[in-house]
Amino acid sequence: MRVLVTGGAGFIGSHFVKRLVAQGDEVVVLDKLTYAGNPANLEGTGVELVVGDIADPETVKRAGSGCAAIVNFAAETHVDRSILGPKEFVHTDVLGTMTLLEWARSTRARYVQVSTDEVYGDLEAGGRAVETDPLRPSSPYSAAKAGGDLQVLAYVRTYGVAASITRGANTFGPNQYPEKLVPLFVTNALDGEPLPVYGDGKQVREWLHAEDHCAGVDLVLREGAPGEIYNIGGEDHENLEVTYRILELTGADASLIRHVEDRAGHDRRYAIDDTKLRNLGWKPAHSFGEGGLPETVEWYRGNRAWWEPIKSGEYRRYYEEQYAERLQA
Ligand code: NAD
Ligand code: TYD
Repeated sequence: MRVLVTGGAGFIGSHFVKRLVAQGDEVVVLDKLTYAGNPANLEGTGVELVVGDIADPETVKRAGSGCAAIVNFAAETHVDRSILGPKEFVHTDVLGTMTLLEWARSTRARYVQVSTDEVYGDLEAGGRAVETDPLRPSSPYSAAKAGGDLQVLAYVRTYGVAASITRGANTFGPNQYPEKLVPLFVTNALDGEPLPVYGDGKQVREWLHAEDHCAGVDLVLREGAPGEIYNIGGEDHENLEVTYRILELTGADASLIRHVEDRAGHDRRYAIDDTKLRNLGWKPAHSFGEGGLPETVEWYRGNRAWWEPIKSGEYRRYYEEQYAERLQA
């Protein structure tokens, strides 16, 4: 099958491209190559890369030519950046999604929207979110993703677009841009730099390996039903637990930990029920602390040539804005 993978030069999208190529699918990547997009993530795949914006209909039409399906990974994805400036998030995650849906409407292509468990918001009181729960996003990022999800459901109902939605948990693995918790703390620990833990560090996230995330999305692409939503879960861990495991695996000292000013509107706990996807046959292959995280740390240890150039330029400016005052306080 010829598949259009948007955001395929990013973290999870590039793992998905590699999976499809290994399976013999034909892939076209459409990616704007924002700060998070990196052609190096696609090295050796031989796939066609169209550089452009998913919110531009002509570009989408050109990239999607001959594709029977589209899987949309393209998004602005980092909560902290959305707090600093939400506009790009609405542009890509809402308007971009709508533009792709228009293309799917006109071509009758199968559509999968890669969304996030963050649309359910905070589950501090306990329980796990199921797919029919109301959306209660807390951050500009999750609000934009929720807006994208609602566009998808409207296009299914109004125009009969054959679209499904996946809602994955916090994802980790090789090739993740070093701004999110795991790659930021691993690379900082390897460099002897501070690990800025927001607030008390007792927030809980579910951790899902990128390859398991992609296996779930692929299953939904092939066997999911239009109009249906599928949660893709992981393993529950507190941020401090993750931090101490990273220190252990990198051999860094606990004195690197700094409790800094909390994130505005910080969700305490995410938790999802993924029974629906498991009933379709999905099961994760990677554990977090035992297999997935040690392998991920080894990947960052062995691939400085991938992340050291990133940690200069634009990244430096973002890092200063996000952390300089917090770390001085
Ligand atoms: P990422 O930030 O690593 O990559 C996003 C990619 O999208 C980049 O290659 C970027 O260049 C591209 N992009 C951004 N705006 C674009 C635009 N307007 N047009 C075309 N391309 C554009 O993101 P990721 O972590 O790989 O996340 C991929 C998807 O999975 C996102 O939709 C995200 O919401 C979702 N998701 C991520 C996680 C996670 O923990 N990382 C968890 C659940 C769901
Ligand atoms: P992150 O990786 O940004 O994912 P998300 O906010 O989308 O869940 O953050 C994961 C958790 O780690 C979240 O509770 C915020 C926390 N965190 C820190 O404590 N310090 C940091 O520098 C970052 C980036 C995150």
